[in-house]
Amino acid sequence: MENEKKGGFTSSLGFVLSAAGSAVGVGNIWRFPYLAAKDGGGLFILIYLCLVVTFGFTLLTTDIAIGRRTGQHTVTAYGSIHKKWGFLGKLTFVVPALIMTYYSIIGGWVTKYIAVYLTGAGEAAAADGYFTSFITAPVAPIVFMLLFLALTAVIVYRGVEKGIEKFSEIVMPGLILMIVGIAIFSLTLNYTDAECMTRTGLQGLAVYLVPNFEGLTIKRFLEILLDAMSQIFFSLSVSMGIMITYGAYVKKDVNLSKSVGQIELFDTMVALLAGMMVIPAVYVFSGTEGMASGPSLMFVSLPKVFSSMGAAGNVIGIIFFVMVAFAALTSCVSIMETLVANCMQIFKVSREKMSLIIAVISAAAAIVICLGYNVFYMDIPLPNGTTGQILDVMDYISNSFLMPAISFLSCIFIGWVVGPKWIDEEMESSGYKFGRKKLYRFMIRYVTPVMMAVLFLQSTGILNWF
Ligand code: PHE
Repeated sequence: MENEKKGGFTSSLGFVLSAAGSAVGVGNIWRFPYLAAKDGGGLFILIYLCLVVTFGFTLLTTDIAIGRRTGQHTVTAYGSIHKKWGFLGKLTFVVPALIMTYYSIIGGWVTKYIAVYLTGAGEAAAADGYFTSFITAPVAPIVFMLLFLALTAVIVYRGVEKGIEKFSEIVMPGLILMIVGIAIFSLTLNYTDAECMTRTGLQGLAVYLVPNFEGLTIKRFLEILLDAMSQIFFSLSVSMGIMITYGAYVKKDVNLSKSVGQIELFDTMVALLAGMMVIPAVYVFSGTEGMASGPSLMFVSLPKVFSSMGAAGNVIGIIFFVMVAFAALTSCVSIMETLVANCMQIFKVSREKMSLIIAVISAAAAIVICLGYNVFYMDIPLPNGTTGQILDVMDYISNSFLMPAISFLSCIFIGWVVGPKWIDEEMESSGYKFGRKKLYRFMIRYVTPVMMAVLFLQSTGILNWF
């Protein structure tokens, strides 16, 4: 514990920016906008905001407080509070281990697109089939993944203070500047298509922000609710041990309640700005149909949008993908840091050595997953009725299966076994006020476990059996 504190965050701002760095990732910039477009614009946003300040806040507080109070990492943290619950720590550790195998691949894809725009090849990237032919190529995705992974490993190798904290302090404000810049640019766009229809960025903003109640049924409302919920806990990086590890690095005199609020705010702001940047731009150049593209939004629809912008498109393309790469890098760092910190504790090995070992293992796993798009290609059926490649399977096990299960168990553990008072004590330990304390107690015991159980049943497809 002594050691952990020595290597921890030096300031409260450094902690908030690093935790926000973990939270802000491709989830905010890629997934949030397409969910908002799919789920009725402002309606989704409204539901999302309500859930962030209640349910997101509860899960984030729980993780960070467990980390700081125990001063330990996931694998031992739960067991140190209650012997019988040590299994939950080990189960939680599986999540970053799984995510690590594929997150660097997505980071590699983003890096490839930076290279594309830097070399002025944006036009080619807008062509049909470009993205598919890139990810199914035998060598290129592996090379870009390795590059991204190497960068991640260097930051983790340098440690919490000199690596993670310093990097986040530089990158996160830069990210905000870039996203605000592109969002403003998006709002000023206008385009007249072949049918002489002119669409403007401000009309696109209305599509994004005005709640669309068309065809809304109770079933549809529940679907939107569940979409928003699963987005929140992926986006806040909760229930995967990451925030426990970051919590363990926070000094005792930091006001945790305030920090949690700032992390929530940062993550939500970036998600909202990402929507403001992406949705109007796609709307202006491809109308509402362009927004139905789902996951292919970032790598397929946006390059088309950039190419329609003419000369400005290349510059915007560079700024956009650099920003996404920063966001993905700070997230990937937090995943690798969690693995390294836990393994250092288990195997009593130095940070330097463990970073190298984890980097090599992650690279090997990621290579196999990259090959899942060519050599090992198969359509694997998933329990929720869709099919996917190896990457999707990893994503499914970690996000749809393990994360809701872990959140559920951790609510039962804190809410009913240990009692929320244990968290209150940590939040108030340095004489600070625990804002939203009553809300926390109610959420952790009653609302969140029920919501998590429903989410688990829905995302594993069990709900569809009835
Ligand atoms: N929170 C990140 C995002 O929004 C994703 C992430 C997942 C980060 C898992 C770390 C670990 O993209």
